[in-house]
Amino acid sequence: MYSLRAYGSMIADRIRVDAYAEALRRTVRQESIVAEIGTGPGVFAVLACQLGAERVFAIEPAEIIQLAREVAAANGCAGRIEFFEGLSNRVTLPARADVILSDLRGILPLFERHIPAIADARRRFLAPGGTMIPRRDTLWAAIVEAPKPYCEVVDPWDQNPFGQNLSPARQLAVNNVQKVRVSPAQLLTGHKLWATLDYATIQNPDVRGNLEWTVERAGTGHGIVVWFDADLAEDVGFSNAPGAPETIYGSFFFPWTQPVPLTQGQTVCVNLAAKLVENEYLWRWTTRIEPPSGSSTSPVDFDQSQFAGAVLSAAQLRKIAADYIPELSDEGILRRRTFELMDGKLSLEGIACRLAAEFPQRFSSTEEALSYAGVVSQEYSR
Ligand SMILES: C[S@@+](CC[C@H](N)C(=O)[O-])C[C@H]1O[C@@H](n2cnc3c(N)ncnc32)[C@H](O)[C@@H]1O
Repeated sequence: MYSLRAYGSMIADRIRVDAYAEALRRTVRQESIVAEIGTGPGVFAVLACQLGAERVFAIEPAEIIQLAREVAAANGCAGRIEFFEGLSNRVTLPARADVILSDLRGILPLFERHIPAIADARRRFLAPGGTMIPRRDTLWAAIVEAPKPYCEVVDPWDQNPFGQNLSPARQLAVNNVQKVRVSPAQLLTGHKLWATLDYATIQNPDVRGNLEWTVERAGTGHGIVVWFDADLAEDVGFSNAPGAPETIYGSFFFPWTQPVPLTQGQTVCVNLAAKLVENEYLWRWTTRIEPPSGSSTSPVDFDQSQFAGAVLSAAQLRKIAADYIPELSDEGILRRRTFELMDGKLSLEGIACRLAAEFPQRFSSTEEALSYAGVVSQEYSR
């Protein structure tokens, strides 16, 4: 869920917004039907109207849709924009769209359920011969010398003022990814293509690929940096490459377990994999750094993943094993009872009174039960 401020930063990113606006300008015709997946405050839906679209479908599950309605009305577009409150995969549109516009990316396009949502929208919403905006995202990777972000990851665990050994925490820390901005001068290799996400055909949200670089400049390698270039329409797009003007996106930094001194000509191989698990991507990066030619030292190998970076207790891990037989906890029993009471007959106040009476250990007052029931209602009621 984004804050209003976060939506403001998205709209203030002129590189992104201007590119999307240009893509719309080139695509929308007088008779066009446009669908926006994730309209946020509705700026692109209104723009599609201003460009003459006959009908615009604006889909958004978050509360911001109320603001989008007001923005549409304030711009005289209320009659031509139809709002659909919910996730696109749960929405049925009254007609197919000639243009589907979206920006469901995070720092990278591999973010939450972006790819399944696009594949579903293309299949159910797009008219034959229709246009997807964006058309394609291309992901690039390079080896980077990045002492500052690397130190931010490891220093809290390496530089302990009490002389404590915090290596278990360090081991978790280097198995996590973070947003960075690096300059071209920090790259020790050229950039290699990791993946192309073609929104006209994409189905599988998981991406895996091998990368191989030859070190071009001697330095200390701290890990891998990944960014993307966006292709929105013919000759319209933007880049997030190191050195390109700053956007809201950026790059992901995959730190290595240890910094590695690299000399020119050395080979670095990485298998980089992103797997969508429920709503989140789980990243794995496996690195082999070959010794410099003529050296008798062994290659350096790192096998890292966000799975190894998660603070998961043995008990939590047991709960996701396929042979585990789950049983409801006290909190689960409360949630089930709340669902039962949400039968379309009782008011929230009525539900809260029953919950307070039936779960006196959990709720010290009906008001407390009412807040609880309200949260459940917001998420699960029609
Ligand atoms: C990054 S914001 C973009 C907002 C606006 N389209 C823009 O470009 O400024 C993404 C929006 O998509 C919404 N969203 C995410 N997944 C969605 C889905 N499957 N269907 C509809 N909206 C979705 C989010 O709630 C969020 O408001």
